[in-house]
Amino acid sequence: MERSKRIETLDKRAVNLDGFINEWPEMGFVAMSSPYDPKPSVKVVDGKIVELDGKQRNEFDFIDQFIADYAIDIKKTEASMAVSSLQIARMITDINVSRREVVELIAGITPAKMVEVMNYLNVVELMMGMQKIRARKMPGNQAHITNLKDDPVQIAADGAEGAYRGFAEEETTMGVARYAPLSAIALLIGSQVGRPGVLTQCSAEEATELELGIRGLTTYAETLSVYGTENVFVDGDDTPYSKAFLNSAYASRGLKVRFTSGAGSEVLMGSSEKKSMLYLECRCLYVTKGAGSQGIQNGSVSCIGIPGAVPAGIREVLAENLVAALLGLECASSNDQSFSNSDMRRTARTMLQFLPGTDFIFSGYAAEPNYDNMFAGSNFDAEDFDDYNVLQRDMQVDGGLRPVTEEEVIRVRNKAAKAVQAVFKNLGLSPITDEQVERVTYAHGSKDTPPRDVTADLMAAEDVLKRGITGVDIVRALAETGYEDIADNVLSMLKQRVVGDYMQTSAILDKDFNVLSGVNTPNDYMGPGTGYRVEGSRWEEIKNIPHIINPQDI
Ligand code: 5AD
Ligand code: CA
Repeated sequence: MERSKRIETLDKRAVNLDGFINEWPEMGFVAMSSPYDPKPSVKVVDGKIVELDGKQRNEFDFIDQFIADYAIDIKKTEASMAVSSLQIARMITDINVSRREVVELIAGITPAKMVEVMNYLNVVELMMGMQKIRARKMPGNQAHITNLKDDPVQIAADGAEGAYRGFAEEETTMGVARYAPLSAIALLIGSQVGRPGVLTQCSAEEATELELGIRGLTTYAETLSVYGTENVFVDGDDTPYSKAFLNSAYASRGLKVRFTSGAGSEVLMGSSEKKSMLYLECRCLYVTKGAGSQGIQNGSVSCIGIPGAVPAGIREVLAENLVAALLGLECASSNDQSFSNSDMRRTARTMLQFLPGTDFIFSGYAAEPNYDNMFAGSNFDAEDFDDYNVLQRDMQVDGGLRPVTEEEVIRVRNKAAKAVQAVFKNLGLSPITDEQVERVTYAHGSKDTPPRDVTADLMAAEDVLKRGITGVDIVRALAETGYEDIADNVLSMLKQRVVGDYMQTSAILDKDFNVLSGVNTPNDYMGPGTGYRVEGSRWEEIKNIPHIINPQDI
């Protein structure tokens, strides 16, 4: 057959390198609604839920039981369930119905009912819902700070630049797990150079991560994974109860905690029980609420290839973000792992959270080049900073970042690299040369930097753990080496753990260490003229991109 040159050209487009699959509910490849999803129902006897979504109490698995006992408001449930799903969907989009009214009603509905409500909303209505239901008034953003070499100097410099660019939270992880203590220290210092008050995380094996947190080397934890079927939970040697316990372990020591879940994990792990991705994710979100976590990182996250491959999969991703918000959870809304070869498609996918705003539009924007992202590549990375800033300016939308000057980028990178050099020397950790500080200052990524002495680094990392080095030691080392301002900032981060206000839902800190959360700066959107608006100094900041013609200069 002679090929159509038109079709041949289209075949070569990036989007056709992506994977697509037809719906296949038996294997869980179905986004919004499966014929095997349960019908909503609830029955309360003697203050106990005895029937949930078509199952009697003696048929409950541990997820059903956990949800029935801890995640649904038993006093409200029968009344909430009596309101039609269509009516609830309309309330979500109705500007005359307040967030509080919606959230209070929703507290009584079951996971299957939540799925029914979401199925009435198209993507624009889901965005309208998110604009109103998001917990914190102003949106925010979170970055990945990692590199191929696990180079702590680069982590500090990238952390400083990321914080300076506007990220409210920064997380790192390692190629070589044993680097964790050095990565945590470098990110803690770097972030506080870039912008005081940025929260940091070091995603590691659970015991290590908890230990780094307790020692004050990190301020939040996020990768407490939960799953929508019992089999998958048990596969990871976990239950909703063990996750609730881990949540309390962190929270009791003053760390901010959020869980992680998202569409596709049960499909990937081969146990979806033929249910839709949205239904399974609703179960995860109810478990998260029941466990007492203030928030969730969701929106498929690392499994995005699965919902991305099925019809309405990207609509489902926004739906699960909205469900999180409806349950009163802080939502770090993914836009995390890369899922498409097409620039158009990856941008379009991000608009669903960018336009309404979420607590963290990205739960991991790669603030390094793609090749340095040890979380497996992100939907947006350091090469997209200017595109992102222009999108904010084009649409007068606050995506959590800001344009920067080259001078300032070089300044904060250099200061962070030098501060880490000084702290490592003061604490007798591995040496950092002046050449390395210099090269990292001007680097784009780890291809531009000299190699580290990995053996020396790993010995130093082990030493940090053995000697019991804590956040206070970092403060002292900074103060003793002439970095009093950074010492003050790190000390202020440690004080937050004692005060505890930043553990409220959707809390971030501003540059003066004031908490901005769903409690003291709640989202009060009720239509035009209300809620968060991009104006004043923030709008001036967003407008001021570097590549610009200034009419006054002509
Ligand atoms: N479900 C549960 N946990 C997830 N993570 C990422 N995506 C999901 C998901 N869909 C967690 C895992 C991973 C980390 C980056 O986030 O724990 O290791
Ligand atoms: Ca994250």
